[in-house]
Amino acid sequence: MKRVVISGIGAEIPSASISNDDLVATFNGWVERENIGRTERGEPSLPGSTSAFIEHASGIRARRVLYPEGVLDIDRMAPVMPRREDHEVSIQAEFAAASARKALADAGRAAADVDMVICASSHLQRMYPAVGIEIQQVLGTSGSAIDLSLGCSSAAGGLHTAFNLVRSGAQKSVLVCTPELITGHLNFRDRQTHFIFGDASVSLLVEALDDGEEREGCFEVLDTRLWTQFSNNIRSNFGYLARLTQANPSVLDMEGLMITQLGNKVFKEVTHAGHEFIIDFLRDNGQTPEDIRRFWLHQANARMNGMILRLAFGRDVDNDRAPIVLGELGNTAAAGVIVALDLHHRDMQRGDYGLICAFGAGYSIGGALLRRL
Ligand code: COA
Repeated sequence: MKRVVISGIGAEIPSASISNDDLVATFNGWVERENIGRTERGEPSLPGSTSAFIEHASGIRARRVLYPEGVLDIDRMAPVMPRREDHEVSIQAEFAAASARKALADAGRAAADVDMVICASSHLQRMYPAVGIEIQQVLGTSGSAIDLSLGCSSAAGGLHTAFNLVRSGAQKSVLVCTPELITGHLNFRDRQTHFIFGDASVSLLVEALDDGEEREGCFEVLDTRLWTQFSNNIRSNFGYLARLTQANPSVLDMEGLMITQLGNKVFKEVTHAGHEFIIDFLRDNGQTPEDIRRFWLHQANARMNGMILRLAFGRDVDNDRAPIVLGELGNTAAAGVIVALDLHHRDMQRGDYGLICAFGAGYSIGGALLRRL
């Protein structure tokens, strides 16, 4: 078996930020308009949203959006995306390539050194050609490419796959790209979810070490793990069969097809499962939470991460031990855990251990135990 390293990390964060106050103002403006005449018709009024609730319940203060135009327009409440012709680079491949180039530069590698691309994202722009193959084309990587999707654990699932392919010798250098354009599938008129998500693209370069090679400053991947268990509590019903269940198959009505979740159930069930996953995974690697210098956890909810860590440590742990990046970025789905890694690893010392742990729809949980070289 080969030793495996993450040799490059790249994150592309959109510059446009939308605050809770701005999002809530649009949402409440829409609610006010929708409520006109409801009382007269004997229908219950729709409740508004508040910034105070959002920050208290999730820790989110703002989110970055790749295409902000249209999100705060009460008549649209969805991003306006430019149309790309078939011969042009698709938006998701372009977003992936932006973080991939940073990961390659971080590793000091050329695109041609890569022999596989895995596009690992909770949402994929189309079914085929695989978005990964387009990323391969845009970057000029060699070998092959595939798409992989596992909700908010997609990046961790991609890393798990890359680790095992490289460790076994099947591939030498795998680029895992996670371009999360999740605002494109978010219902900004749904009070339960309108505030949750933001966009971000991340990439990891996963490579084999040659015999006796030490790549100082890289993270060696010591082990990875995936856990899944079916749940409907986070669900998207969008898919190629959806139009066939509607009266007019030529015009797709998106009502009921975007992300829905029973947030409270997810919070409780995934906190419990995430805690158990971490303890078991570390134990099987001869470690305890105290041995881990840094936890890069999924960035969905600051309270949820706090609770998982409190269960693991028996006390509160600070932001240095387990950084939270969702405050200004929102939940960037599968990208969040790698954004946390990208922003919070440079101070780690040789020999320090770190744990990636992502969790979300599926349910799914993915982890990776790292050691700084
Ligand atoms: N503004 C104001 N109040 C709101 C609101 C909003 N936008 N949305 C819900 N509320 C209200 C509810 O009506 C409810 O009021 P009630 O107690 O009077 O009935 C109250 O706030 C609590 O609602 P609930 O849905 O239980 O909120 P919560 O505390 O569970 O927080 C989430 C909601 C989504 C932030 C939280 O459940 C969460 O983050 N869950 C995990 C999500 C996750 O990890 N998903 C993985 C996918 S990546």
